[in-house]
Amino acid sequence: MNTEVSRVIEFRGVTKRFPDGTVAVDSLDLVVDAGKITVFVGPSGCGKTTSLRMINRMIEPTGGTITVDGRDVTAADAADLRRGIGYVIQQAGLFPHRTILDNIATVPLLLGWGKAKARGRAAELMELVGLDREMAKRYPAQLSGGQQQRVGVARALAADPPILLMDEPFSAVDPVVRESLQDELLRLQSELGKTIVFVTHDIDEAVKLGDKVAVLRVGGVLAQYDEPGHLLARPVDDFVDNFVGRDRGYRGLGFLSSDTIAIGELPTLALGEPVPDDDAWVLVIDAERHPQGWFNGADRNGATVVDAAHLVPGGSLYDIGSGSLRSALDAALSSPSGQGVAVDADGRVAGSITADDVLRVVDDVRRDDTAAA
Ligand SMILES: Nc1ncnc2c1ncn2[C@@H]1O[C@H](COP(=O)(O)OP(=O)(O)OP(=O)(O)O)[C@@H](O)[C@H]1O
Ligand SMILES: [Mg+2]
Repeated sequence: MNTEVSRVIEFRGVTKRFPDGTVAVDSLDLVVDAGKITVFVGPSGCGKTTSLRMINRMIEPTGGTITVDGRDVTAADAADLRRGIGYVIQQAGLFPHRTILDNIATVPLLLGWGKAKARGRAAELMELVGLDREMAKRYPAQLSGGQQQRVGVARALAADPPILLMDEPFSAVDPVVRESLQDELLRLQSELGKTIVFVTHDIDEAVKLGDKVAVLRVGGVLAQYDEPGHLLARPVDDFVDNFVGRDRGYRGLGFLSSDTIAIGELPTLALGEPVPDDDAWVLVIDAERHPQGWFNGADRNGATVVDAAHLVPGGSLYDIGSGSLRSALDAALSSPSGQGVAVDADGRVAGSITADDVLRVVDDVRRDDTAAA
C-alpha cells in the first residue's frame, strides 16, 4: 500500500531538560531503522514518552538533534512533519462525539480529501485492522477497549504515513486481547513495512514486537540497544538483567533458530488399530496424519484396539517450518511421552524431538558464539 520509502530516524546527543530542571532524556544516541519496529522499554518515568514526542515535535529537545531521513525535524514545519507521522496512544484517544468512521477519517478530512474519499479510505482501514464494517456508525463508548485500540491504529494509518509512533497503545486492555492486538500489529507491519517506534514498559511485549529494543533507565539514559535475542542472551549490566526478568534463558530460546535440530522417528497408530504388544507410548493420528493424542500400552486395561477412550491428550506441537528452539523444547516437555511432536505446515506429523535434542542444539549455538567472540 505504501509506495514511499520508509524513513530512518536518528537521535544524536538528544537531551530534554524540563524548565523545573528534570532531565527526562540524557544525551540519547540511537538510530531507528527504516521499515522496522523499534521498541523503547524501561521503567515508569525513564523518558520513553518524552523521547517519542520529540520525534514529532510535540516536545522540543533542549539539546542535540533528531533527524528523519537526514533532515533535522526542527527545520521542518511542525504540521508538515506530523502529516508524515501517525501517532497512537493508550486508550486510543478517540473523539467521543464522532462515529468510528469519522474518527478514522480525521486526518484525510484535515488534508482536504473530501468526505466521500476520506470515508472510503476509513472503511478500507476498518477492514485492514480487523474491525467489522457495521461498527462504522457506532461511537467510541460503544466499542470494547480492544476495538477502540484498533480504531486508534486505523486512524493513525489513515493518511498512510511512513512513520508510526505508538505510546503504550495496548496497555489498557486485558492480556488476551493484548496478545491478539500484538499479533495483528505484526501482521499489519509485514504488509506495510512502516518505520514504527513503539513504547512499552512490558519487556515481553518489547521482545515480541521489536526488531530492535532500546532499554532506558530512569534519567533517560540508554542502557542497551539490541536485537531481542541478544538482549535476553547478553544483558550488558545488572539493570538490564533485572529488567528483562525471570526465565530469560528459557525465553531467549524463542530467538534461536531450530533449523539444525534432529527430527527423530515417531511410532504412530490410527484409531481402531490393534493395541501393540509392548508397553511403550505411541502417537495416535488420523487419516491426514494429524495428531489425535497418545496411547500408552501400559494403560491398556484390557483394550484390544486403540480407542478414543484411551487417548491421553498431547502437548504443544513444534512446527518444523516456523518453530523456534523454545517451541521445540516446550513440545518435548509438555508431551506425556517426553517426545515432542513435530508437524509440518499442514499440521501433519513429521517426527519427534526430545529435550536432549534441543539442548544439544543450544550447546552447539553456545560453542559457535564463543568461537566467534
Ligand atoms: N512537562 C514536564 N515537566 C517536568 N517534568 C516532566 C514533564 N513531563 C515529563 N516529565 C518528567 O520527565 C520524566 C520522563 O517522563 P516520561 O513521560 O517521558 O516517562 P515515561 O518513560 O514515558 O514513563 P511512563 O512509563 O510512566 O509513561 C519523568 O520524571 C517525568 O516526571
Ligand atoms: Mg510514558
